[in-house]
Amino acid sequence: MLIMGIESSCDETAVSISRDGREILSNCVVSQIDMHAVYGGVVPEIASRKHIEAIAALAERALSEAGIRRSELDAIAVTYAPGLIGALLVGVNFAKAAALALDIPIIPVHHIRGHIAANYIAFPELKPPFVCLSISGGNTLIIDVRDYTDTRILGSTRDDAAGECFDKIARVLGMPYPGGAALDKMSESGNPKAFPLPRSRVDGAPLDMSFSGLKTAALNIIHNHEQKGEELNIPDLCASFISAVQDTLVPRTMAAIGKTGYKTLAIAGGVAANSHIRAAFEAQCKKQGVTLYMPPLKLCGDNGAMIACQGYYEYLAGNLAGQELNAIASLPVERGSYQK
Ligand code: KG4
Repeated sequence: MLIMGIESSCDETAVSISRDGREILSNCVVSQIDMHAVYGGVVPEIASRKHIEAIAALAERALSEAGIRRSELDAIAVTYAPGLIGALLVGVNFAKAAALALDIPIIPVHHIRGHIAANYIAFPELKPPFVCLSISGGNTLIIDVRDYTDTRILGSTRDDAAGECFDKIARVLGMPYPGGAALDKMSESGNPKAFPLPRSRVDGAPLDMSFSGLKTAALNIIHNHEQKGEELNIPDLCASFISAVQDTLVPRTMAAIGKTGYKTLAIAGGVAANSHIRAAFEAQCKKQGVTLYMPPLKLCGDNGAMIACQGYYEYLAGNLAGQELNAIASLPVERGSYQK
């Protein structure tokens, strides 16, 4: 079955063609990062306009790289939630128009389920159930993946997403947007114990997380140094910050593994590219006999292949849409299965 996967929930326009879910024939991405870098973050209005400019040509490129004709497509999968509403609408409306023209079904895909599915592409042997930690610029979630289309939240951040904190601290330190990768690189020579940053807990919800206090504490250190005219050891601060994020993510995720009784952990989302976080999970999983899956870096960020892959499983579950499909800015992953 040939599926076109479309992703436009934030600042990447992406189109991919897949066969039977896990075989990727093409995976084309146009990033808008340079446009938004000037403003230090994503400007929703610009994001929507750039998606409109890119999407039709990108779809043609995805077909040509896959070596197939439009008429061979069996369905169009598209991210319909969650994300920037104007950005999502571009992908959703393109998918609706293409599905109407080609007389094929539309498969609405929840963005987070797409990130989980990046692991199915990278690891053909991976099957639910497993625990997935999804860490990106917009969310931080520990998910019980009971089945391909049955996903329940075990723990989540109560405030900022981990990636959002990376980006904010990096921006204040003068690194280009999005700063996660630069902050990661900067931390290489730093001492993770140099700054005693907080590891917050949520009372009564041991698997939930909070990052806003950590972000504020790191920002206060930067501002205090500035005000006093003292030189700040930036690698030390970056390493200390990452260490605090790691100490928040790793024990909770491992506790979720204990709670479900599963022996498999998958990690998804842009922050999964972080070298320290990857190493910490590798070490902990080895110690506890848990099989760990981490997609390669190119599948960690937003892409169309993950949407096409998840789209295949949504199709098998019968989660299809017609021309009534609308985009939804905020939708919990539990309710990710599209219902007409
Ligand atoms: O999943 P993603 O591409 O987009 C969504 O948010 O959906 O994730 C982007 C996030 C950004 O916050 C970026 O700074 C972060 O992933 N990121 C990293 C690294 N590479 C990207 N954060 C920490 N360390 C990295 N190496």
